[in-house]
Amino acid sequence: MARLGFVGLGAMGSRLARRLMAAGHQVVGYNRTPEKARDLVAAGLRLEKSPRAVAEASEAVFSMVTDNAALRAVALGSEGIVAGLTSGGVFVEMSTVSPAVVREIGEAVAARGAAMLDAPVSGSTITVEQGQASIQVGGDARALERVRPYLTAMGPGGITLVGPLGLAKTMKIATNLGLAVQMLAFSEAVLLAEKSGIARETAVDALLKSVVASPMVKYRGPFVLGQMPTDAWFNVAMIQKDLQLALDQGRAVGVPLPTTALTQEWLTMARGLGLGSYDFAIVFDVLASLSGASPSRKPNR
Ligand SMILES: NC(=O)c1ccc[n+]([C@@H]2O[C@H](COP(=O)([O-])OP(=O)(O)OC[C@H]3O[C@@H](n4cnc5c(N)ncnc54)[C@H](OP(=O)(O)O)[C@@H]3O)[C@@H](O)[C@H]2O)c1
Repeated sequence: MARLGFVGLGAMGSRLARRLMAAGHQVVGYNRTPEKARDLVAAGLRLEKSPRAVAEASEAVFSMVTDNAALRAVALGSEGIVAGLTSGGVFVEMSTVSPAVVREIGEAVAARGAAMLDAPVSGSTITVEQGQASIQVGGDARALERVRPYLTAMGPGGITLVGPLGLAKTMKIATNLGLAVQMLAFSEAVLLAEKSGIARETAVDALLKSVVASPMVKYRGPFVLGQMPTDAWFNVAMIQKDLQLALDQGRAVGVPLPTTALTQEWLTMARGLGLGSYDFAIVFDVLASLSGASPSRKPNR
């Protein structure tokens, strides 16, 4: 069994690290706020004081942090992951961040004689726990083979090599823009039906049985019937980060993303109304308020 490193033990990182430990690996970890890793330490994870120390102690190091700024903070600088990599090491970056930042870090990794892969996760905290998450990978195929067993432990749903370093992030960003766009379209459909005289429950039921019922709509459709989760599955700020990554990439390669841009504004409205901590499905409530319809959320939150 291998000694592996994990940097960023938040909602996703902690669950991914747990899967590595459950597969029998020794995991050395780092989290900016160490107290949050208490449960993992109790379960056997060894906490280090810096990302660099994690990389120095590991055969392969994984990271899962919020955004570009967080990735730069843990990867670069004298105490960052890159500084701790040894020749032949592998750094697997799993966050949803910009392909350009990953490629920039990839150059620094290559200069140390190590390999970098980008490996964003398709799934949520729940799918990771249930062993249903899948992982797309960008980078060198030989480096992937060295870490494939660890990736499979975290994402038994499947590992797909999509191309050179950075392209897995691109694929993830292209996928995620659809989540928010679909939620806004679903909200329009429910409210159009409701204000025309169809009960909200009936409209949701019909839509969930229709051809527009994607897995995302099936998961989140019931939220608009008063079942909005107290702890957001994926909050407004996080999805806005992903839509912005898509808009930036669209501008870089010359692809207009008009529905993404529009949906981004609806999410900004949600934040303006003080709803930013909710799951991004709260975009339904923004449209409901402008339609004179009742919100999905309970009044006491
Ligand atoms: N949640 C999901 O369903 C889901 C699904 C697929 C992909 N993702 C992606 O996974 C990534 C992590 O999401 P999450 O849900 O795990 O978020 P999270 O629970 O908020 O965890 C974020 C992690 O990043 C760390 N971090 C943030 N800023 C930092 C900084 N400046 N320096 C060092 N560490 C920093 C946090 O450390 P602290 O604990 O100290 O704050 C924490 O470990 C995101 O890119 C997200 O888009 C999430």
